[in-house]
Amino acid sequence: MQMQAAVLEQFGQPLVVTDVDLAEPKAGEALVRLVACGVCHTDLYTASGVDPSGYAPTVLGHEGAGVVEAVGPGVESVDVGDHVVTLFSPQCRRCEHCLSGLSNICLAIREQQNKGCLPDGTTRLSRNGEPIRHFMGTSTFAEYTVMPEIALAKISREAPLDAACLFACGLSTGLGAAMYTACVRAGSTCVVFGAGMVGLGAVAGCRLQNAERIICIDLSAERLKLARAQGATDLWQTGPDIVQRIQSETRGFGADYTFEATGRVEVMRQAVESARMGWGLCTIAGVAGKGETLDVIPRWLIQGRRIAGSSFGGVKGRDQVPELIERCLAGEIDVEPFISHRITLPEVNRAFELMEAQDGIRSVITFG
Ligand SMILES: NC(=O)c1ccc[n+]([C@@H]2O[C@H](COP(=O)([O-])OP(=O)(O)OC[C@H]3O[C@@H](n4cnc5c(N)ncnc54)[C@H](O)[C@@H]3O)[C@@H](O)[C@H]2O)c1
Ligand SMILES: [Zn+2]
Ligand SMILES: [Zn+2]
Repeated sequence: MQMQAAVLEQFGQPLVVTDVDLAEPKAGEALVRLVACGVCHTDLYTASGVDPSGYAPTVLGHEGAGVVEAVGPGVESVDVGDHVVTLFSPQCRRCEHCLSGLSNICLAIREQQNKGCLPDGTTRLSRNGEPIRHFMGTSTFAEYTVMPEIALAKISREAPLDAACLFACGLSTGLGAAMYTACVRAGSTCVVFGAGMVGLGAVAGCRLQNAERIICIDLSAERLKLARAQGATDLWQTGPDIVQRIQSETRGFGADYTFEATGRVEVMRQAVESARMGWGLCTIAGVAGKGETLDVIPRWLIQGRRIAGSSFGGVKGRDQVPELIERCLAGEIDVEPFISHRITLPEVNRAFELMEAQDGIRSVITFG
């Protein structure tokens, strides 16, 4: 079939919205009609050419939600008409990591996904007979996508898909960092660095875990206002003495849990140093630039602080994205404030401009 898609033709150039071909789903795959798709930093990062593992041409996009239109042979977990969220982080339920229960980093299709292919090593996307590679195994800046069933989370049909798409990346990453990576205990003191999609999600996750005090820290007063509505008890603009401030407000100890959601290594260090001596856990969700390293004095760790990295918030996509969306439907997570702009696919480059201007939390593309 032919469909409209936003193609990254050349790094550093605007995406080109054009017709491309999409082949039928093969064994284990499903055809999904996209209804909504968020625009995330990783899309811009790849488009800019800074990402060393990036490739072009490719159809970008990974924060998708839509409806299954067809399934290939052998598909059992989704059916035509099901509502789904796309997972750049799949869950096969069979590999060593999935079976361990200890990690959400599924090993099943990593290699091919990183090369821009579906699990059989080929692409369903093409143009004039030339293959176009899939991005993050999702390629959701398009009217349709073909994806492996292990990378589709089947969700309630009640959930509005323009809200559900946020759970495909940023929001789940933040919520999960608090709920599944850190497993925040009730009554704790938490500090969240960064009040973007990921940080605000972490604030909401700390609230859902019944943290007592949730301090959110950002440069922007505007963004901190949003954190209040997600459950932050304290809103602080950052400054050079931020670690001392956290220590002095916690009787000199530091916070039980800290979260880094800025992608800046100097903030990661602050997040480590402001975790409580004895048991403080610093969870790092931000993605640092290529070649950057985290500078930590080992004594901070000897004193009982720990550091954990969190990919997609430790969320096991097929099991837990539907659960998070149920909590959203139950009124426990308010996503409306995160949808700052609704745009159409041909306006996708505007979403990048808005992001660069830090205008709003998420632009969401709606289709049809
Ligand atoms: N681990 C994962 O699986 C995963 C998934 C999605 C995004 N991410 C990463 O998470 C990070 C955050 O993503 P986002 O979409 O929320 O980004 P964002 O840019 O919307 O938010 C980052 C926030 O950090 C704030 N900030 C910048 N410098 C700061 C400082 N010195 N102190 C405090 N706050 C500061 C900014 O004002 C901004 O509000 C990015 O690095 C992104 O790549 C990781
Ligand atoms: Zn993302
Ligand atoms: Zn797996």
